[in-house]
Amino acid sequence: MGKPVILTGLRSNDQIHIGNYLGAILPIVKLQKNHSADYQINMFVPDLHSFTTPIDHTMLYQNTLNNLKVFAAAGLDINNSDTFIYRQSFIPAHSELAWILDCFTYFGEASRMIEFKDKSKKFGDSTVSVGQFNYPILMAADILLYDAKWVPLGEDQQQHLELTRDIAIRFNNKFSDIFTVPEEWKKQLEFTNRSSIRIKSLRNPENKMSKSIQDPNGTILMSDEPDEAVKKVMSATTDSVGKINYDPKNQPGISNLIQISALLKNVSLDDEISTWIDKTSYGDLKQSVAELVKQFLADFQSKLSAIDENELKTKLESDEKQVNEIANKKLLDVQKAVGLRQ
Ligand code: ADP
Ligand code: TRP
Repeated sequence: MGKPVILTGLRSNDQIHIGNYLGAILPIVKLQKNHSADYQINMFVPDLHSFTTPIDHTMLYQNTLNNLKVFAAAGLDINNSDTFIYRQSFIPAHSELAWILDCFTYFGEASRMIEFKDKSKKFGDSTVSVGQFNYPILMAADILLYDAKWVPLGEDQQQHLELTRDIAIRFNNKFSDIFTVPEEWKKQLEFTNRSSIRIKSLRNPENKMSKSIQDPNGTILMSDEPDEAVKKVMSATTDSVGKINYDPKNQPGISNLIQISALLKNVSLDDEISTWIDKTSYGDLKQSVAELVKQFLADFQSKLSAIDENELKTKLESDEKQVNEIANKKLLDVQKAVGLRQ
């Protein structure tokens, strides 16, 4: 047996924002720092998952590479020999396994996925894609191909992980123990030590900052001009309470600024709250967060521009070769189990 696998992916459906960075990318970088000696880390871009809802296809290829560059700029050591980086569509076994798993997933259980229901509501039955319906089953294939035990995910993906476990258990019971069943949600949270960080939109702080929602003034993109980002922070929606408090329910805008501030300063939320609590100048808080964001973006962007795209592509292609071998081996086991191969 090789090392246990930690696997995660970040879609390339649009540009990455500070919420993705703080909530998804940095935790992976930290995982690699803490665990790289004992685990294999699969960090991939689910490019096939990136157009289940409409996107600008002229940007897809480059956005996929950019995602990986952002990980590298954030500190992921892509040259670590126990870390694989790859693009989903470059490993055809993902799509083939997804089809096979489709036939062992029930229409009813797939129809219960909240993300599918939300998207159906948003787009309507006649325009929500079948790809959106199949989304969690392709995701199950992404995970099961590599026997991944640990799958760091945002809380909105819990149901998809649970479906993956159900499919794996069903398959293992019907055939033989072909798949490693990923650990259950609670254990995943303990493993990643992931407090559920949700950065909110600066404009509509009841909602999360999201690349899937058109909200340019509420969203700080990692590619924003630092001065542009300052303007967004300075015009963030707050409230009329008049006193700073960490109270996400009643003061979501102010609480969001405190959260961002804590993460950018790398201090605990409690420490940051005690810095600001009971102060009355929202302007001072905004000013302070704006400065932090400006510095953070300037640093990040200079690291990003130092990433050598050719070096990244070389590592990517070499990893994709190795990953194809691993994935094809697992696929063959599955094909044999279902009677497609002898
Ligand atoms: P988006 O909602 O921006 O389209 P995705 O749904 O593709 O982003 O999520 C990509 C990753 O980023 C997931 O791990 C998700 O949990 C994380 N993420 C997305 N938005 C936020 C946010 N506002 N705050 C923290 N993490 C986030
Ligand atoms: N659905 C995940 C998200 O939106 C992205 C994803 C696709 C993924 N396949 C995966 C994450 C496999 C982890 C493992 O965040």
